[in-house]
Amino acid sequence: MRFYLVVITWAVIVSCQVPEQPRQMIERTSFGMLPEGEEVERFQLRNTAGVEASIITYGATLTALSVPDRDGIMEDVVLGHETLTGYLEDNPYFGSIVGRYANRIAEGAFTLDGEIYTLARNNGPNHLHGGVKGFDKVNWEVAEVIEDTNQVGLSLNYVSADGEEGYPGMLTVRVTYLLTEDNRLIVDYEAITDKATPVNLTQHAYFNLAGQGSIEGHHLTLAASHYTPVDSTLIPTGEIFPVEGTAFDFRSGKTIGEHIDHDDQQLMYGGGYDHNFVLDRMSGDLMPAATVLEPQSGRILEVHTTKPGIQFYTGNFLDGSITGKGGVQYGRRSGFCLETQYYPDSPNQPNFPSTILRPGKVYQTQTVFVFRTEE
Ligand code: GLA
Repeated sequence: MRFYLVVITWAVIVSCQVPEQPRQMIERTSFGMLPEGEEVERFQLRNTAGVEASIITYGATLTALSVPDRDGIMEDVVLGHETLTGYLEDNPYFGSIVGRYANRIAEGAFTLDGEIYTLARNNGPNHLHGGVKGFDKVNWEVAEVIEDTNQVGLSLNYVSADGEEGYPGMLTVRVTYLLTEDNRLIVDYEAITDKATPVNLTQHAYFNLAGQGSIEGHHLTLAASHYTPVDSTLIPTGEIFPVEGTAFDFRSGKTIGEHIDHDDQQLMYGGGYDHNFVLDRMSGDLMPAATVLEPQSGRILEVHTTKPGIQFYTGNFLDGSITGKGGVQYGRRSGFCLETQYYPDSPNQPNFPSTILRPGKVYQTQTVFVFRTEE
């Protein structure tokens, strides 16, 4: 009798035990081979809440990011490809780290310390996103895998040779991704150089907080009273315009689609928004720059940054010709980018904040993507 009681008590205790809590973790796997025979690795970072960020060494690219909606349903909220081949073929910087200089440099040329430097003109008459083989198209080296109590992540390094893509100086770059227990994806950038060079690094994720469809119903708030207008080739004119009374005023929030097709010369040049917003900042500290709400799912993305500007791009050049994850054809405006950055073409614009990194100095910026839901 006693024996049975012990067995029953034991069985009750075992069956009442709470199932093991999912824990934060990192899964490291192969993502394929580059044609030159180099391996591309993938790191899947997961936190206790089940938020998952996948990063591959090729382009230090964020390939997937699953976050919950207001009912806890997970959805991948970034555009991208399932296979390495997709990234090697026609890839408009989906989730990539962009450098050495994000966005455009007019006519692929600039003068620094009296010397003229010429870069590839890979976007009409201009240089775009670091050139023909920018930082999005190189395989980064894994420098560190991070597993702390409240965060998991990895650091990736890339050494850009002196003269690479026409830029002066050997630039040593480190990008660190951290996924925290409170649903933040932190991106830290660091770079040092041995010769003066322009540097502007960004993360080019295309977000769609509904996971699919047009992004025009997403509601955006931007902490920017000014933006930098552009010419017909999307090079800043050098002016800094107030957003007041224009389609560019997102200060109190509105849907992305509300004014996107307005009869506005600036919007016509971009085919929608493709402009640098000047953040209303008092210091170089981390500040909340943008908040996006997708009303159906209740998913909210906040972008915080230490950088002076943000390129708000509404995926105007997507045209359905690229098939991405889940066989989805990415149509026009099916993703938006909030590329935290220094202003485009700064090396040619004396009134913009300087982007020149000199030997002995450290380029150090941070951007944080915070995910939460509307109640
Ligand atoms: C940036 C540019 C856009 C476009 C995309 C990539 O956002 O400003 O004009 O080049 O990258 O397609």
